[in-house]
Amino acid sequence: MNKAKRNAVIAGNWKMNKTASEARELIDGLLPLVKDAGCTVIIGVPFTDIHVAVEMTKGSNVHVAAQNCHFEASGAFTGEVSAPMLKEEGVEYVILGHSERRQYFAETDETVNKRARAALANGLKTIICVGESLDQREAGVTKEFVCGQVVAALEEMTAEDLKNVIIAYEPIWAIGTGKTATKEQAAEVCGFIRETVAEKYGQDVADALTIQYGGSMNAKNCDELLSMEDIDGGLIGGASLKPADFSVIVEAASK
Ligand code: PGA
Repeated sequence: MNKAKRNAVIAGNWKMNKTASEARELIDGLLPLVKDAGCTVIIGVPFTDIHVAVEMTKGSNVHVAAQNCHFEASGAFTGEVSAPMLKEEGVEYVILGHSERRQYFAETDETVNKRARAALANGLKTIICVGESLDQREAGVTKEFVCGQVVAALEEMTAEDLKNVIIAYEPIWAIGTGKTATKEQAAEVCGFIRETVAEKYGQDVADALTIQYGGSMNAKNCDELLSMEDIDGGLIGGASLKPADFSVIVEAASK
């Protein structure tokens, strides 16, 4: 299967930005700009914006993602939100294992896998993030490290589960730094990820998997990144907060 047959997905990761009223304003500006998109469009919003985002995107082509979920359905886990809670709110996707969660909130390969399995079991689709640090890239262990993260994240998942999984390759050194990976660097690692999935689940499953690149993707560099065979979309931080820029990226992925 070639790229043209895979589903292109552009997902915004708003991170900890936008109050509910600000979210309303952003979504209001965004909806008309992406209404004719030829790819899947997702906005990953803070928990407090979910209600507004779901309500405003109803009947539109924009889907809502949360930025995390716990692996238990309920219980004594202060500050956490569960998959059934998100599902009932009308959330469709959840971003998991973002490097900021791994770096600042002690998320591990094991907890990412547990959270992802809980999300899938509750009918949520997942965007699972992986990516190496600058030290790891310079030490020449990028492939080994990123593929190890992929294997760990997919532990105990079936080929059927993979239909609801997107993997986002986000080199940590490119996130929020304005330092984008070159299209060759990004595509190379996305290719390694696809090979890893093929080894475990077979070529058909790997060929159907959407793999995004993330890390300072913007309105200017999106065309060349998205033109690469193994890059099926983007996970967009900073540029997702600007509807005009985000819609240019959506348009690039729609070609
Ligand atoms: P950035 O963030 O586009 O601002 O680099 C990407 C991400 O962290 O998902």
